[in-house]
Amino acid sequence: MADSPNSQSASRRDFIKTTGAAAVGVGLTSAMAGAVHAAGSETLKVGLVGCGGRGSGAVKDALTADPAAELVAVGDTFADRMGPRIRYLKRNRKYGDRIKVDDDHIFAGFDAYKQVIDSDVDVVLLATPPHFRPAHLAYAIEKGKHVFCEKPVAVDGQGVRSVMETCRQAKEKGLSVVSGLCYRYHEPKRELMKRVHDGAVGEIIALHTSYNTGELWYNRPQPGWSPMETQVRNWLYYTWLSGDLINEQHIHSLDKMAWAMQDEYPVKVSSIGGRIKRTGEEFGHVYDHFCSVYTYADGTKCFSTCRQQSGCTVDINDYIMGTKGTADVMGHRIRGFEVWPKDRKTDMYLKEHEELFAAIRAGEPINDGDYMSKSTLMAIMARESAYSGKDVTWDEAFDIKVPGPSEYVWGSAPEASVRIPGIA
Ligand SMILES: NC(=O)c1ccc[n+]([C@@H]2O[C@H](COP(=O)([O-])OP(=O)(O)OC[C@H]3O[C@@H](n4cnc5c(N)ncnc54)[C@H](O)[C@@H]3O)[C@@H](O)[C@H]2O)c1
Repeated sequence: MADSPNSQSASRRDFIKTTGAAAVGVGLTSAMAGAVHAAGSETLKVGLVGCGGRGSGAVKDALTADPAAELVAVGDTFADRMGPRIRYLKRNRKYGDRIKVDDDHIFAGFDAYKQVIDSDVDVVLLATPPHFRPAHLAYAIEKGKHVFCEKPVAVDGQGVRSVMETCRQAKEKGLSVVSGLCYRYHEPKRELMKRVHDGAVGEIIALHTSYNTGELWYNRPQPGWSPMETQVRNWLYYTWLSGDLINEQHIHSLDKMAWAMQDEYPVKVSSIGGRIKRTGEEFGHVYDHFCSVYTYADGTKCFSTCRQQSGCTVDINDYIMGTKGTADVMGHRIRGFEVWPKDRKTDMYLKEHEELFAAIRAGEPINDGDYMSKSTLMAIMARESAYSGKDVTWDEAFDIKVPGPSEYVWGSAPEASVRIPGIA
């Protein structure tokens, strides 16, 4: 058969499929993995869904991690988000020549994700607001694509269930799903957690974690924006879109606690929270602070706080307290001793993509589905406890539902009323 662009594309896809199948079906010996990896100079085509700050960061990381990766398709709800990002990425001397997005592969609208995923791509980077993640991830895995999946992965229990099922399917299909819970890819923290798991602090008796930081951006509504456009462009402030700050941001801290506990999750949470500073209508209905106490099956407690209030002390730290002493996760210290020298830099965002692309090329899929789903649920259960003023169990959390719009059109948007504990 004569070589055509399509036949090349088919053979490249076969190469990827075959390597994935080898890992699932017969297992890959290290010698085989090496052989496949050596052959792995084939282009891997990347599609991006959600062309915001993190989406373009993920493109940069993907193309830096893999010298034969190319960006070929992008999608966003808003056309105006894409041109400037593509131009910005193209200007980079290291990977700019691998930004190969032609005009036919720039997709706008709520269905843009389908068009990106249906393009000739091998890997999809999902970086929209979290509300959309379960549907986008499900479609990507259905269509046989490897995924880099930003955190959090959902805004309610139903979304978490959906992602867990999708990740199960990804495993069956030999597809990689790498999570944007980036601290798990940070070498100093890997070093620290390994020692904690090996008993360096003794038996864990309590955990403390905080993500107390400043306020984030706000997009002033422009003439002609519908309520839906205003909300999607300000997605941080609507629980149906972001899951609130405890889910959107503090999830990083909660996931570190889950990691410390070797992915054992709490049985119950009791939270308080509210909004005292960011009270204007423009800030939708999210809170600006939460304080939670998680309880594990053996009675171990995890104390957690988060806030977004500018002009206050910033405190982003985690402590694992054990019978032999304390680990300072962000300081990379165990009982006062450094486990990683401060001047030895590593880039966790890049590492995620180095491992993702190496996994694809080796045919040894990574699947972060379990912890990325459950750490999302850990945030969701505490949000619900604060909103309702009632304790929430792990099992109850799977049934938490946040109503979204009945249809995705540029018109009306879901009601935005602030929930008052003990009442609604
Ligand atoms: N891992 C990290 O450290 C980290 C850092 C920042 C953000 N994030 C996560 O990345 C995601 C995106 O955050 P961001 O800071 O890039 O936000 P952003 O607002 O800069 O970008 C989001 C983009 O998604 C687009 N979008 C919205 N709905 C869409 C849809 N249905 N289909 C396609 N595009 C859609 C928006 O128009 C926007 O361009 C969030 O889940 C956030 O929590 C992770």
